[in-house]
Amino acid sequence: MESRHQSASRTDMTEYVLPQHANAMGNVFGGQIMAWVDLCAAICAQRHSGKLCVTAFVDDLKFQKPVKVGEVVRLHALVNAVFSTSMEIEVVVEGEDSRTGARWPCVDARLTFVAVDDDRKPTKVPPLVMDSDHVRASQADGEARRSLRLQKKV
Ligand SMILES: CC(C)(COP(=O)(O)OP(=O)(O)OC[C@H]1O[C@@H](n2cnc3c(N)ncnc32)[C@H](O)[C@@H]1OP(=O)(O)O)[C@@H](O)C(=O)NCCC(=O)NCCS
Repeated sequence: MESRHQSASRTDMTEYVLPQHANAMGNVFGGQIMAWVDLCAAICAQRHSGKLCVTAFVDDLKFQKPVKVGEVVRLHALVNAVFSTSMEIEVVVEGEDSRTGARWPCVDARLTFVAVDDDRKPTKVPPLVMDSDHVRASQADGEARRSLRLQKKV
């Protein structure tokens, strides 16, 4: 199976925060951010694998700073590491005030996606092209986190 470049599946999304996305304080619901994160990561996983992908696991999420109605949510997803049928995708989420250009960290999330075939069975995914120290470190760090995740699996 031919390796694929990490950059080829990079996925960027931009969402404008409307009142229907917000809680009573006028900030985006955590669940809305999680839905956007899942969507952005799913597109990235499918771009890399060329297969339908399902969410298998979401690591702990920390919401760093809120994003309000009228502001912008920017999401950037990258394949951190590829295993056999699964991949670790990282989604970095930022808030943006489009009037001033100010940006701030909102969430940094890691999700595990599994590629599935037409029978919904896990199927192999292409490895990452190991063309830089950065990608090699990213793969190694992802493998270490995967071991910890699978130890917790019930
Ligand atoms: C994810 C799913 C396909 C895994 O199926 P399974 O029969 O358990 O498959 P396997 O045990 O063969 O594992 C397949 C891969 O998933 C990984 N995996 C399974 N559970 C995992 C977990 N809790 N955390 C991390 N990875 C996990 C395995 O490590 C394996 O990866 P690898 O092939 O790269 O080594 C299956 O559990 C499923 O369909 N879950 C529901 C998914 C869903 O509905 N998501 C929400 C909507 S998209």
